[in-house]
Amino acid sequence: MNWQRSLKGKVSLEEPLRKYTTFKIGGRAKFFIEPYNYEDLRLLLSLVKKYSIPLRVIGAGSNILIRDQGINGAVLRLSSPCFRKTSFHKNSVTVRAGKFLKELVLSIQKRGLSNTEFLIGIPGTVGGALAMNAGVKGKNIGDLVEDVTVMDYFGRIKTLKKENINFGYRKSSLSKFIILSAKLKLVKRNKRDIEEKIKRYLDYRRSSQDYSFASLGCVFKNPSGDSAGRLIDLCGLKGRRIGNACVSKKHANFILNLKKAKASDVLRLMRLVRKKVKDRFKINLEPEIKIW
Ligand code: EPU
Repeated sequence: MNWQRSLKGKVSLEEPLRKYTTFKIGGRAKFFIEPYNYEDLRLLLSLVKKYSIPLRVIGAGSNILIRDQGINGAVLRLSSPCFRKTSFHKNSVTVRAGKFLKELVLSIQKRGLSNTEFLIGIPGTVGGALAMNAGVKGKNIGDLVEDVTVMDYFGRIKTLKKENINFGYRKSSLSKFIILSAKLKLVKRNKRDIEEKIKRYLDYRRSSQDYSFASLGCVFKNPSGDSAGRLIDLCGLKGRRIGNACVSKKHANFILNLKKAKASDVLRLMRLVRKKVKDRFKINLEPEIKIW
């Protein structure tokens, strides 16, 4: 079956997915596809439907734990130049889904425009950030959205106004589509003030989070009114290790990949953490990360 030959973009077989995640863990994808443009993406959708191949979209891979057995299906990554474009308007920017947040924030800053500074340290793409409404300290990307353009799994493109999208805590109604681009509201601001704000966000992240080894950032969602990191810390779990997966000594809601950890080690450690927090505080921690 050589259905993938008709695509213009890059197609790899049995591609190791760990290369595409910040955690550097996980098995292979049977098909790994980077479409060339919207037409190519539409063609891909019709092909995977025709051959009943399950399809998933990966962004920057900063929130996904891929199981050791990998994915028996297709993984799609919107990494070609077509999916990274930005265009500026007077008080807004239209940005495509494959753009990295850091690049976006810096290009906005360069134009003396502001609103996105809080996204600077999040190691994600625009599409991934929108799908899970990424944010920090009560500010989320959904707050900036004017509209989002998506492709449904039939290849139809539509633009959804903000009022027709649900953004929740680390989730959104967009995750059922392939996100193509978003229009984000911006405001004019002094470049130096923007730079200072960016620096404050980066300093806070560096001082509180653990960058010593590969990770997925926070593993569990914060329960309402509390912090998962604080609860895990109070259970004395910092430094707890299973195989080469280890609860960070700096931020207890981070699990580190010390060296070639297995996804199964991480899953066992997550179960242990959930059990300890449940036993002590009667709170069920929900994973923030997606498990594939
Ligand atoms: N804390 C501890 N021990 C720890 C970690 C934290 O006692 O090991 C305490 C801190 O001292 C602080 C409180 O818990 O009083 C909250 O900690 P922090 O400021 O680090 O924020 P967080 O609630 O753990 C959230 C997001 C982060 C985001 C930060 C900064 C979630 C699950 N986490 O973390 O997002 O970067 O706020 O705004 O919503 C992520 O999404 O991957 C992520 C890391």
